[in-house]
Order: sequence, then C-alpha cells, then structure tokens
Amino acid sequence: MQINDHAPFDAYVPCAKRYDSMPFRKCGNSGILLPAFSLGLWHNFGDFDNLGQARKVLRTAFDLGITHFDLANNYGPPYGSAEENFGSILDKDFRPYRDELFISSKAGYDMWPGPYGNGGSRKYLMSSLEQSLKRMRLDYVDLFYHHRPDPDTPIEETIGALDSMVKQGKALYVGISNYNAEQTKQALKIFKELGTPCLIHQARYSMLDRWVEDGLLDVVDDKGVGLITFSPLAQGLLTNRYLNGVPKGSRAANENSYLALDSVEAQLPKIQQLAQLATQREQSLAQMALAWLLKDNRVSSVLIGASSPEQLKDSVGAINNLAFSAEEQQAIEKIIG
Ligand SMILES: NC(=O)c1ccc[n+]([C@@H]2O[C@H](COP(=O)([O-])OP(=O)(O)OC[C@H]3O[C@@H](n4cnc5c(N)ncnc54)[C@H](OP(=O)(O)O)[C@@H]3O)[C@@H](O)[C@H]2O)c1
Repeated sequence: MQINDHAPFDAYVPCAKRYDSMPFRKCGNSGILLPAFSLGLWHNFGDFDNLGQARKVLRTAFDLGITHFDLANNYGPPYGSAEENFGSILDKDFRPYRDELFISSKAGYDMWPGPYGNGGSRKYLMSSLEQSLKRMRLDYVDLFYHHRPDPDTPIEETIGALDSMVKQGKALYVGISNYNAEQTKQALKIFKELGTPCLIHQARYSMLDRWVEDGLLDVVDDKGVGLITFSPLAQGLLTNRYLNGVPKGSRAANENSYLALDSVEAQLPKIQQLAQLATQREQSLAQMALAWLLKDNRVSSVLIGASSPEQLKDSVGAINNLAFSAEEQQAIEKIIG
C-alpha cells in the first residue's frame, strides 16, 4: 500500500466457519453463552491509535468466533473515542450481524467535569448510558456494568439505576466490576430484591494477580453469577512481548499506560520460567496463561486485549490445548506462588 493508495477496505464478509472452533460457556445461571475469549477495547481503539488496524482486529475477532466486545465510557484516549470508533466500524462492517454480537459498556470512573460525571449515582449512570448508546450508534447495549464500587453512593441507588436500565430496555443485562467479595454479596442481595438478575462480574485475574481466589470466585459461583476476567495477560507481561526487552510501540513503552516499566523488570524472572514451561507444552506463553484461566469452569469468558490481528490469533490458539497435567499445574504453582 502506498501513501496515495485509494483502495478502500474490502467489504466485510465474515468467515462462514466462525462458530466451528470457539468454545462457548454458560454465563452463570443465565441463558447467555459467552465465547471462551471476549475482546476488550480499552486500548488500541482510541483516536490516537491506528484505526485501520483496530478495524482489522475487530474483523479477525468476529471471524474467530468472538461475539462479545467490551467497552466503557472512558476508553480511548480521549474518553469516549473507543465507543465512537467502535460505532463507526459497527456501521461499516457489523450492522447486519448486530444480533450475533454481545456488546457491553460501563460507567464508574471519571468521565466528564463536575459532580455528575463520576461515581455511582443514578444521575451519572443513566446519563452515561445515554451517551454510550449515542457514541456506539446503538439502541441498546447487551450488558451494562457499574465499573467500580463507589463508597460515597448508597449501593441501593447504584443497583437501582442498573435495574432501571433493564426495565427501560436500554440494557438487556447488567453487571458489576471490581467489587470485592463482600461488596458483591451486598449488591447481589439488592439485585434479588429488585427482581433483576446480575448477569456477570468483571474482575482482574491472571497468573500474576489471583485476588479473586480469596472469596470472590466462591461468591459468584454460589449465586449463579458469571465471571469474566480482565487483563488475563497482565497487560502483555504474560506473553513473549517483553522476553527480550521492551519493544517500541508496546504498552510498557508508552509512559501514559498503566503498565509500568518497573513491573516488567520485577516480573521478568517469573515470566522467563513460565515461557520455558509454555514451550514444553508447545504453546506460546500467552496461550498457556489464557488456558490456565479457562481450566476453572467458574470463569465464563476471558477478556483479552490485542494490538494486532496476529496477537489475537495467537491468543485464541489457546483453545487447542486447554488441559494441564498435575505436574504442569504444580510447576506453575511453584513459579507463581
Ligand atoms: N473492568 C475494569 O476495570 C477493566 C480494567 C482493565 C481492562 N478491562 C477490560 O479487559 C480488556 C482486556 O484488558 P487488557 O488489554 O489489559 O488485557 P491483556 O490481554 O492482559 O493485555 C493485552 C495486551 O497484551 C499484549 N498481547 C495480547 N496478546 C498478545 C499475544 N498473543 N502475544 C504478545 N502480546 C500480546 C498486547 O500488548 P501491546 O499493546 O503491547 O501489543 C495487548 O494490548 C480491556 O480491553 C477491557 O475491556 C476492564
């Protein structure tokens, strides 16, 4: 392709075999099936990113059987731009397939100035969902989350707002994210009283961050709520990306990202050992890290990010080897502790 190349993207025709290999899992006690891998648009879909590449990543995802795309009001940068760019790509490529897609958004972090653009108030959540729908050019989202607990808002108000979204038909399902086990129990009690199920909890979980094992996994399992795990590759640490230094263009090389160079350095010894194990399993490190999460049936879907179609294909390749021998599990435990 040259700088003056006028060739447009070819019209998108999804792969006819897109449902042949992706496993789907039941999301808690609900009737919803989620793909083993879902795609998150936190990074790589903002106005400062390569949107041609972003479009290719979305096409690749759908072709691989990924039906669930996860967004939030503040994904970008700038805030809102990932939803806008997604809406534009949806119109170009995915409009005929809307009913094959499960699209989520969230509100909970700071989004606009003043007292109503952050937190967990009914005012913020209801307005934010309206804005997200406009940006994504949607009539409804399949799933809307409260993005993080807000200690300054009564939990009844926050969960009540989620309940209203479902009753208004603007969200088909609702969920919570980043709530700890105790906060989750409180939220689920209110959902039950209101008669609206909580579909899912979205929580960080990877080989390098296992906080959900201290109670949250049991709570969601006990109450029939699904669990979708974010940053399963620890933002790229659990891949081959940093084995030979910090490449240009990587997340750790971007000083504005949430992946600090210090953590690359600190985790490198573990990552190197894990990479050796992955080679013995004839998998990439990313594939082994993702398979390790899917061995737990309580995980409904693993929510990955990708900056290229190649990364996405590599990660989804994990489905070819999801089993771990007892020896492999012990060896991994020894490394990650
Ligand atoms: N609820 C919440 O509070 C919350 C918070 C964070 C994230 N999330 C959600 O979770 C999604 C995923 O989070 P994440 O992006 O941190 O996930 P991740 O899968 O842990 O990290 C994705 C990054 O890892 C690298 N990568 C991915 N696959 C690779 C492969 N096969 N080989 C080598 N490198 C690979 C890429 O980094 P490079 O960019 O360096 O290429 C990619 O951008 C987000 O998009 C968002 O939807 C939710």
